[in-house]
Amino acid sequence: MPEKGAAPLPPDIREVLFDETELEEVVKRIGGQIARDYAGQKLLLVTVLKGAFIFMADLVRAIEGHVEIDFMAVSSYGDGAKSSGVVRIIKDLSVSVEGRHIIIVEDILDSGLTLKYLLKNLKSRNPLSIEVATLLFKEGKQQTDVSCKYVGLICPDEFVVGYGLDYNESYRNLPYIGVLEPSVYA
Ligand code: PRP
Repeated sequence: MPEKGAAPLPPDIREVLFDETELEEVVKRIGGQIARDYAGQKLLLVTVLKGAFIFMADLVRAIEGHVEIDFMAVSSYGDGAKSSGVVRIIKDLSVSVEGRHIIIVEDILDSGLTLKYLLKNLKSRNPLSIEVATLLFKEGKQQTDVSCKYVGLICPDEFVVGYGLDYNESYRNLPYIGVLEPSVYA
């Protein structure tokens, strides 16, 4: 029998890593930092689909001021679980970033290879400034040096899903970030 008030976890989820309250607080903190840093300026948030869509939806509402949004979708050539660093643009931005302040919004920074590609690609379009906001930062996993100004939470080296993050396109709709049972992907 589940505890009163606590919804039982789906069988594929081993534990909740970051619950809704923690996520709300983190989004509020980053939104406040961004609002202060870009006060009086126009800002474009570049969301990297699909994983960052929920983080972006919450983050944009936590930023007071002039904010515009756009989306990119990229695909990494790899074994499905790991980034290879070879990235293909599936969907490009619909606006020009030239002369604009932009922040790349990511759900997770793991190897950093996707971000390295995105930074190089977007810098070549001559934005006025470019920064990165990531909800999760997998400590010690980076294979490349990418600077990330806004970091939400340090994430252990587990397979995490929920709040936009998936395994084989499932679990994105979980309202928290949970650890996937290894038996699911082993
Ligand atoms: C995830 C995440 C980042 C990338 C990070 O995307 O959204 O874009 O991996 O990994 P890296 O730091 O090792 O490059 P994914 O390829 O899972 O696609 P999705 O966002 O559509 O789920």
